Amino acid sequence: MAETRVERDGAVQILRFDRPEKKNAITSAMYDALADALEEASRDEAVGVCVFLGSPGIFTAGNDIADFIRVTSEGRGVGDAVLRFLRALATSDRPLLAGVDGLAVGVGATTIMHCDYVLATPRAVFHTPFTDLGLVPEAGSSLLAPTVMGHARAFELLVMGRQFDAQAALLAGLVNAIVAPAEIEAAILAAARALAAKPREAVLAARRLLKGDSVKILARIEKEAEVFAERLASREAQAAFAAFMEKGKS
Ligand code: COA
Repeated sequence: MAETRVERDGAVQILRFDRPEKKNAITSAMYDALADALEEASRDEAVGVCVFLGSPGIFTAGNDIADFIRVTSEGRGVGDAVLRFLRALATSDRPLLAGVDGLAVGVGATTIMHCDYVLATPRAVFHTPFTDLGLVPEAGSSLLAPTVMGHARAFELLVMGRQFDAQAALLAGLVNAIVAPAEIEAAILAAARALAAKPREAVLAARRLLKGDSVKILARIEKEAEVFAERLASREAQAAFAAFMEKGKS
């Protein structure tokens, strides 16, 4: 039950959320597998580009809520696996691409903010219902989103919890282009292969210049994680999680 599929297509490493029966919700084991893959890619000279993909019609429903409940009950803050993944994401030394088809919720949407080139289908939806769940933004999104889309749109997405459809995400600068569902995988892999075929050292050096130092983003990830851990243990969050788990039983 490999719920994260890591595959190689020449110099392209594909990281796929593959747990469609749970809407690709991400567990601690999946975060660890993703962190391993990102760290290995940064060390492996044969890997030129990494691509995030989900399943047809669903990118990911974000953090697994049952996992949130378990990690909190064990008093482990946001959990080591999540933090490992977020640090690996923020410090990755390879271009990160993503093809988003369907919902990208929570960390699914904030992961996209670390990506360098993103394609989405018309049925893509970016949704970060953090405050509705009694939580706060994570993954450095409180720093990245205002930079990418300005405070007003970042507030609408991250604090008001409004859903951005593909067109809104395009306007906000979260995605580069919209392509049909039947074409998205081929299109993002073609872009990845073309990028991986360019002079590798020049691409990496250029990307490092655009990205700049990761110190600020890493510090923000830690700060957010502190507040997030407090919020996870709050009555607001516990009530929201219980309501979600209860929904499945009715
Ligand atoms: N964590 C754990 N399980 C999840 C999940 C999540 N984030 N998202 C979906 N699932 C599970 C559901 O519990 C359900 O499991 P079941 O079949 O065993 O009951 C299964 O995936 C299908 O989800 P369902 O809610 O029936 O599908 P839907 O199409 O009606 O709705 C979503 C899809 C994504 C809109 C809805 O599942 C949802 O809101 N999920 C929570 C998203 C979220 O808040 N994530 C955390 C952000 S910080």
